[in-house]
Amino acid sequence: QLGYALIDAFIFILQCFYSLQSHSPPPNFKHHVNEQCRLSDRMSRRLIRTYQLYSRTSGKHVQVLGNKKVNAMGDDGAVHAKLVVETDTFGSRIRIKGAKTGYYICMNKTGKLIGKRKGRGKDCIFTEIVLENNYTALQNAKYEGWYMAFTRKGRPRKASRTKQHQREAHFMKRQPKGHLLGDTQDRITTKKSRKTHVKNVIN
Ligand SMILES: *[C@@H]1O[C@H](CO)[C@@H](O)[C@H](O)[C@H]1NC(C)=O
Ligand SMILES: *[C@@H]1O[C@H](CO)[C@@H](O)[C@H](O)[C@H]1NC(C)=O
Repeated sequence: QLGYALIDAFIFILQCFYSLQSHSPPPNFKHHVNEQCRLSDRMSRRLIRTYQLYSRTSGKHVQVLGNKKVNAMGDDGAVHAKLVVETDTFGSRIRIKGAKTGYYICMNKTGKLIGKRKGRGKDCIFTEIVLENNYTALQNAKYEGWYMAFTRKGRPRKASRTKQHQREAHFMKRQPKGHLLGDTQDRITTKKSRKTHVKNVIN
């Protein structure tokens, strides 16, 4: 199923490409394709979700405080533990900010987690890696091989000493009051809507 969707997507991209390259395409067709290209652009815009990140080691939640400090000492439902996560539809790269403070979680070159008002740099982007044990690791996009990680007490670990398999770097996405975010369900929904979208575009 995904295979067909990918082939459809490829044909669609070829059509878009053709319409941009061609000097004298049939006018109606060009109009149609341009419309659809714009639709696709809208569809692949970033998605915004709100959830908590539960730390496997501290048993608490990641929070972004007003003093730009980041820790994993937040109780379930705590105001600073509510995170706004921006993601690309087709990627696993995310930006995470505290809903209350608006500070993005970033990493500096010494491997410390810091809050920043602006989150455009790669230092504020994390790649989500879903592990076999269903925990998620968050690898920094600028400092590859460095992960967001917290000690048992919820203090940030120096990222240069982190590894993907360490418990300190493992998280669960969670809605307030303990409800786990169904990762599998998310993925199925995304696949289905993607396919439906692509079909509509081709038909
Ligand atoms: C990285 O952040 C830590 C904690 O805020 C700070 O003490 C340190 O000076 C920063 N390092 C650099 C190179 O900015
Ligand atoms: C991970 O989640 C899937 C789907 O919810 C489940 O079937 C599987 O048993 C889980 N794996 C572990 C190691 O808990």
